Amino acid sequence: MHEIYTASSSAPVNIAVLKYWGKRDTNLNLPTNSSISVTLSQKDLRTLTTVNSSRNFEKDSLYLNGVSHSIENDRTTNCLEQLRSLRQQLEEDDPNLPKLSQWKLHIISENNFPTAAGLASSAAGFAAMVAAISKLYELPQDASELSRIARKGSGSACRSMFGGYVAWEMGEKLDGTDSKAVQIAPPEHWPNMKAAICIVSDLKKDVSSTSGMQTTVQTSELFQYRVNQVVPPRYSQMVDAIKNRDFETFGTLTMKDSNSFHATCLDSYPPIFYLTDTSKKIIKLIHTLNDAIGKVVAAYTFDAGPNAVIYYESENEEVVLGVLFGVLSNVDGWNEMNSATLKVPEGVPLSS
Ligand code: DP6
Repeated sequence: MHEIYTASSSAPVNIAVLKYWGKRDTNLNLPTNSSISVTLSQKDLRTLTTVNSSRNFEKDSLYLNGVSHSIENDRTTNCLEQLRSLRQQLEEDDPNLPKLSQWKLHIISENNFPTAAGLASSAAGFAAMVAAISKLYELPQDASELSRIARKGSGSACRSMFGGYVAWEMGEKLDGTDSKAVQIAPPEHWPNMKAAICIVSDLKKDVSSTSGMQTTVQTSELFQYRVNQVVPPRYSQMVDAIKNRDFETFGTLTMKDSNSFHATCLDSYPPIFYLTDTSKKIIKLIHTLNDAIGKVVAAYTFDAGPNAVIYYESENEEVVLGVLFGVLSNVDGWNEMNSATLKVPEGVPLSS
């Protein structure tokens, strides 16, 4: 009988308020701009991953929501290779350690939300996998250092290594060692921040983020302007808005950045359309609501798909959700049954 070593970790989904869109190095997954996100709470949208290791296992395997998936892809292989080499260094320093770096892994992951809904599942998935394996291997690296490994799985995954308000610093080095996630503020810094997820469609997106952003980098002139002129000042304004709990600025920048990102998609050739008519109705509705109240009480943002995430503060919940449900339940394509109200963020840094 051989021992089985096991560890589990979970990572929540994060939703960017300053979008990552574009790679300067596709192998190392290095971005063309820094980005900022909010990590949702563990109990709402998260991936839970358990990893087992034994000298008897014949091959690495991955189960996602009970279904076997191939592990033979560059993204997963890259992450596993790096984690194994860090473990190997520990084993070389202490020959009494079991040689986990040489053994195969069984990885079992579960999402507590529909994977097909296009809700940044790969971000939570890679972050949970890296966190679980680093726990199994008892690696001394902190969450920021581990975020560099998660980044290679999926860029946005590096931000899910932390709870709360998180920046992915693009870095400057060619080897990517300074392209990592850092926490701007913990979840409890802004306790009344909430998010509502509006599922407009749970169909798989027709242009993946990975290929969509490459088309944008290669063909959009507007993209150069976004990366060089728009994002750098916006980054420091967003950090300040978060630190000051300034919802007016946070919300305004969030909406502008979502619009700027989707504008570069439209400026790509051929153009990429992620927003649907229902998405556009949500955008108009939020502006009408904010105008009627006379300040920004709700802010929308859209990733590479038609689903909206609406950030708001809890004292405005009744008016924000009342308007959303009241108006949108009559809109074709709006699925009220699928929409969820999510309190954010309660995640804790995964390193703790
Ligand atoms: C629109 O992280 O999914 O959600 O690095 O190719 O895996 P890859 O891309 P991914 O892109 C996310 C794009 C986005 C914006 C964001 O999360 O910042």
